[in-house]
Amino acid sequence: MQRTHLCGDLRAAHIDSSVTICGWVQNYRDHGGIIFIDLRDRNGLCQVTFDPDLCGKEAHALASEARHEWVLQVTGTVKSRGERKNPNLATGEIEIFASQLTVLNKAQTPPFEIDEHAKVGEEIRLQYRFMDLRRPATQRNLILRHKAVKAARDYFDANGFIEVETPVLCKYTPGGARNYLVPSRVHQGQFYALAESPQLFKQLLMVGGYDRYVQIARCFRDEDLRQDRQPEFTQIDLEMSFIEMDDIMALGEGLAKELWKKALNIDLTTPFRRMTWAEGMRTYGSDKPDLRYGIPIVDLTDWAPTSGFSVFQNAVSAGGVCRAINAKFGFEQGAVVPASKKTACEILSRRTLDQLTEFVKGYGAKGLAWIKIQGDPKVKENWQGPAAKNITDDARNALAVKLDVADGDVLFFGCDKEKTVCAALGALRVELGVNRLKLTTPDQFEFLWLHSAPLFEYSDEHQAFVANHHPFTSPYAEHVQYLTSDPGKVLSKSYDMVLNGNEIGGGSIRIHDSATQSRVFTALGISQEDAQKKFGFLLHALSFGAPPHGGMAFGLDRLIMLMTGAESIRDVIAFPKNQKARDEMLDCPNPVSEKQLKELALVVAAQAKA
Ligand code: AMO
Ligand code: AMP
Repeated sequence: MQRTHLCGDLRAAHIDSSVTICGWVQNYRDHGGIIFIDLRDRNGLCQVTFDPDLCGKEAHALASEARHEWVLQVTGTVKSRGERKNPNLATGEIEIFASQLTVLNKAQTPPFEIDEHAKVGEEIRLQYRFMDLRRPATQRNLILRHKAVKAARDYFDANGFIEVETPVLCKYTPGGARNYLVPSRVHQGQFYALAESPQLFKQLLMVGGYDRYVQIARCFRDEDLRQDRQPEFTQIDLEMSFIEMDDIMALGEGLAKELWKKALNIDLTTPFRRMTWAEGMRTYGSDKPDLRYGIPIVDLTDWAPTSGFSVFQNAVSAGGVCRAINAKFGFEQGAVVPASKKTACEILSRRTLDQLTEFVKGYGAKGLAWIKIQGDPKVKENWQGPAAKNITDDARNALAVKLDVADGDVLFFGCDKEKTVCAALGALRVELGVNRLKLTTPDQFEFLWLHSAPLFEYSDEHQAFVANHHPFTSPYAEHVQYLTSDPGKVLSKSYDMVLNGNEIGGGSIRIHDSATQSRVFTALGISQEDAQKKFGFLLHALSFGAPPHGGMAFGLDRLIMLMTGAESIRDVIAFPKNQKARDEMLDCPNPVSEKQLKELALVVAAQAKA
């Protein structure tokens, strides 16, 4: 054994015992002949003291050479620090008086300090990820991830699920995320696709009679990256037979409860709030509402024509909607008040309002009418801003009631096509709640289920209906009749789990008969022939006694990001790609030799590009 204890293990109870520890040099100090070294491992830090009278000249000389991140093995006796206790350190009551020192390895000067509090840019951290992984914060994130995955596996095992692995190299299927393609050497000119999720395989497992499937599955999507997206990420993927939407929701809530208890020791209250997709869009302008604060969106489409303000009137007579939010706190019972205790009027300066106008333009809005109420709202002169001058006395009085207006409030209006208003006011609401009014606290976990989204979504880019979730999602039986006549009207048996404004999981009840599946493909503009070519195996399988089934997948990386309070998904993945989908440590992706390209019959394509 190279060691008897871990650095962070030692306590007062170990005083006078002889121990050997191994670790990295966090700090070294020479105090007039006595050298102090803080040695670090995954468990924590321990102070080691080299007194030449006790450890001998040779060990002392060696200790004087040690530098940051050298790897040492130290044997010595645990002693009390007496009056010099360090209350900030778990091992702060003791130190080790060294008797022996072995230098196991030296280290180059580190590119950054391995310290909890040092501010280090992400670029350099990712380039030296093996050093960054030594930082206690990164280690805590990965340890919590381990605990959560262990808790998930135990939970599913206890609920009768079996874990089955599904292929990563599979068939390209259109309609979902953009796939990574892998050229086949054996079948030149032909390609595998990397699985974007185990979706079709888990459905085939249900046809195969496996009843309850789970997998901690790696997924690959060639998407534009954001703080909460990676090209390869991990799902907690599950599928069940003979169940309804409610069963999956109960199971998902049970999982969240288990993860929060086992990894964070927090008791979540279930069931979570449930909301239809339509309600989420109408009241929060979002398919992933952040419920940590109020600020709901209020519909004013009936009010707008008599408001007296042409911007509102014109938008509504052109077939649009008029909606508004009141940026106040305490609108809903239990809503949070900002730490500053200032009113929205005080926080949102004229300059900020200009910035917010630019902000909503990023979401397609043409402008952002606002009204500040400074003083008693019954007094006309206390309503200020571009829209205030124009609206009639009656319209103002009606608005005061509709938006529950009080001194210190700021009102924002969006008038346009419904989709644009939802996007603009939905994003504005989050910008106000999180960034401007700062109504959130780190210990808030506001879960909800958003269900029954439209089966299809009209894509302006493709000029056609596309699947909202994926094309295997079941429509409500009573909506099947509209599949061809009015596809936009069809609602689906789909559900997303949302936490603090993040989609952390989603799924659906699936279509389990090949006739309905064919009709959905048709509605998506996929011809019978194409459907056979691309999804023939699924249609075929559904015709061999597929049970009613459904499931969902949780984004594990997103879950851990929210559980740890990390700012980015990259902080909870050991070896993530950067925002340009590159691994700078490996220096990849990178070119390969012409010989390799020839072998894969890709050389023609490469030359054409050059
Ligand atoms: P979906 O595409 O909604 O559903 O993915 C499920 C969950 O995975 C997470 N997620 C991601 N996390 C990190 N990086 C990404 N690029 C990324 N994309 C998605 C999200 C999301 O909620 N097969 C279906 C599930 C089902 O129907 O059962 C699916 O993959 O948290
Ligand atoms: P304008 O009449 O264009 O000067 O706009 C008057 C006010 O209404 C300005 O504050 C604009 O930002 C705002 N505004 C313009 N178009 C819209 C719209 N579609 N929805 C909400 N506010 C708007």
